Order: sequence, then structure tokens, then C-alpha cells
Amino acid sequence: MHIFSITGPNQINGEINISGAKNAALPILFSSLLVKGETKIKNIPNIKDVKITLKIFKLINVKYKKNKNTLYINTNYLSNISYPCNLIQKTRASIWLLSALILKFQKIKINKPGGCKIGKRPIDLHIYVFKCLGIKSYYTKNSLTIYVKNITKNKTIVFNRISVGATITAIITSTLIYKKITHIHNIAIEPEVIDTINFLKKMGAKIYTTGKNNLTIIGVKQLYPNTYKIIPDRIETATFLIAAIILRGNITCFNTNPKFLTNILKKLKIAGAHIQTGKDYIHLNMYNKRINAININTAPYPGIPTDIQPQLTVLNVLAKGQSIIKENIFKHRFSHVPQLTRMGANIKIKKNSLYCRGIKTLQSAYIKAKDLRSSASLILAALAAHGNTIIKNVNFIYRGYENIIKKFQKIGITIHLIKKNFNNFKNK
Ligand code: UD1
Repeated sequence: MHIFSITGPNQINGEINISGAKNAALPILFSSLLVKGETKIKNIPNIKDVKITLKIFKLINVKYKKNKNTLYINTNYLSNISYPCNLIQKTRASIWLLSALILKFQKIKINKPGGCKIGKRPIDLHIYVFKCLGIKSYYTKNSLTIYVKNITKNKTIVFNRISVGATITAIITSTLIYKKITHIHNIAIEPEVIDTINFLKKMGAKIYTTGKNNLTIIGVKQLYPNTYKIIPDRIETATFLIAAIILRGNITCFNTNPKFLTNILKKLKIAGAHIQTGKDYIHLNMYNKRINAININTAPYPGIPTDIQPQLTVLNVLAKGQSIIKENIFKHRFSHVPQLTRMGANIKIKKNSLYCRGIKTLQSAYIKAKDLRSSASLILAALAAHGNTIIKNVNFIYRGYENIIKKFQKIGITIHLIKKNFNNFKNK
């Protein structure tokens, strides 16, 4: 268990480089299992979820080499996964193992995939994809099995609600259904989904957009190895920008893509931030001004992502005025709220909304993170709070943020990592 000790309030000033996107790296890694030979993937973030994925790859005989942020994935000896495999439960992304392996091995059995505990995480849309494609599935309390003989017809998948994960499942599975056409309607269009499509296309997949939220895929026999560079992480970018707002300082994020943050930047401007953008950078300055509260409705892309809702909550906690945040994707993703309340925040949860009345300062406390983005949110709160905040269970942060401590150091912030057992820190 890792514990962060943060003494605030901090000042923020400087430049950082944004890493490759977690939510593009994971589906692209699973998509690389469709390629025969050695694929070179650049800008892979050095994060826990990638490490877990590579551990799973070892179990299915995928050979890989790593050189800083470049990965070479060799699938020449690819084998089926053995059941049980507890690693599957460690990430949500491991569900894509099913789509990546099914056409090669015809039957796959895995443990039920896990992931961050941010409310219910059903898999019915993934199962729906398999059903549409003629792939049978059954599951028990702990396992999930899918099997198929031949897919002989063209198929249509119509999502009744938007899912990033199920869209990826549909794309990966359809890519190698040789000579058959799959139409997919109402897909997620997150930049990370588009990046996965671009990766597959570069390896030879025939994927065509047919309208804003629809795809047509013509199955090919094989994909061929190539080199691909993953897009920058817009959630990491937004997290650092929000940190600069909360600390009323300035930051420049390089190696990012402002286009992926268009609607987020609009909101941050309403919060009072001065923002300049270039092709691959975003500069933000608060000029030491108090924050204006902002109302937020999380939504699928291009809406405000649920993955920055916990960080935006801290922004509103410290803002001038009242605000409402409505969480429409994961309706109970509020594990950060009781912790922020311990620090003095004035927030009420009603159904899937947060009603917040801004305060001037937060106080330090002993707090506990429960998932990846709540860790990010609590770190931001601790940076601004007066006194020494201890954050327990902060390990989650490593799932999605590369070199988080070093990156904060570079912009003038010191986070002390305490590896001792939390029992040494008595809860107040
Ligand atoms: C992905 C992202 C996660 C992000 C989320 C929403 C990855 C690895 N993770 O997660 O960071 O927060 O998108 O942008 O890319 N749903 C169902 N049935 C299903 C699947 C999903 O009802 O079978 C629901 C979910 O409960 C949720 C909504 O659909 O309410 C969107 O979830 P989804 O887009 O699938 O999220 P993930 O792919 O799990």
C-alpha cells in the first residue's frame, strides 16, 4: 500500500510532457494480438494497467520488448489463455482478450474482468456484440466463456446506448471475419476509439466510417505489422490543467492535443482560466484569481468525460459560488466526495448529482482513495489544502498516470511517497 504525504497549499508553475493515452494504449495492445508478426507501438505510457496487460500477454506466449515508451509486440507464438487467470480481474480492459482471440481459437474462457470500482460495470453490451456476430456466450459467477465455429454471414450491431468498451469489442472481433461485412451503429467516438481504429487500419484492417456514429467493417484475412504512435492522454492533460486552476498558478502541457479537449477547455475558461493552445500544447494561467464555479454534465465524447468528474469536483469545491455536477455515465462515481468532506468541502450527493457550495480553503486530513480518478482528485485537493494531508491507498494512481510524482516535482510540487504501513498513521 502506498501513501502520499502532501503539504499545502502548493504553488504550481512550469511545463510538463503528457504521456500516451491509457485508454488508447490498452485497446491498441489487445488489437495488436490480431497482427501476425512484430508490431512497434510508440508512446506507450508506463502505467500499471499496461504492465498488467503485458503480464497477461506473457501467459499467452506473446513476446515483447520494451525500450522506454516503445513496445515491440510479437504474436508469432500466440496461444490461448488458460482458465483461471486472476490477472484478468485486475483490469476492465482484459475483456478485449475475448474479441482478440475468439476467431483464432474458437473458444475462450476467462475470469470475469474487473477494473476500478466506480459503480456497476455490466458487460451486457459486449455479450450483445458477440450475439449479433453469431458468437455464443455463457457465464457463471466467476467465469465468462464464448465460442463460435464459423461466422458465415454479414452482420449488423446496433447499440442502444453508447459504450467505449463494447464499441472496441465490436471493432476488434469484426476486423478478421474474412470477407464478411459488419455494420456497427451508435458507436462511441472517443479519440481513443478512433485511435484504435486508426491503428487497425494502419495494420491493414478495412474499417470505414459511415456517418458520425456508424462504422462498416469488411473482414480481412490477416493484419500486417507496422509502426504506430499512440495519441496523448487527454485525461492526464485535463488533470494537470485542473491542478493549475485549483492552485491559481500556470502550466504548459506539451505533447498533447488540444482538439481532444475542446469542450473541457470551454468549461475551464468559464472557471476563469486564460488558455492558449498550439498544435501540441496547452498553456493555462489563472493569474492568482479565485475560481468561478462551473456546472457539469458528464457525457460520451465530445461531452465532458466522466474520467475528469472527480477532479472537477475539487475545482468546484474551491470555487466562488454554487454548482451542480451531474454524473451521467457511472451514476455512483462519488467515492471522492466523503473524503473531500473530511477536508471541509461543502457537497451534497442527490441521486447522480453533486450540489456544491464553494469554500475558500480546504484543510488537511487523513483520507483514503478508492479508485484511479478519485486518487487524482484527492491529490489535487491535498495540493491546495492547508497543512499535511495523508492519502492512503493511493496506489490506484499508478494505473493511469505515468511518473506522477516526478511530473509534479517538475512544476514545483513535492509529494512524499511513504511506503510504510498505514497503521503507523492513526485515523483521526
Ligand atoms: C471506458 C474507459 C473508462 C471511461 C469509460 C467512459 C477504458 C479502458 N476505460 O470504460 O476510463 O470512464 O469508458 O468513458 O477505455 N455499460 C453497460 N453495459 C456494458 C458496458 C457498459 O451498461 O456492457 C454502461 C456502463 O455501465 C456505463 C456506460 O455504459 O454506464 C459507459 O461505459 P463504457 O463506455 O462501456 O465504459 P468502459 O468501456 O468500461
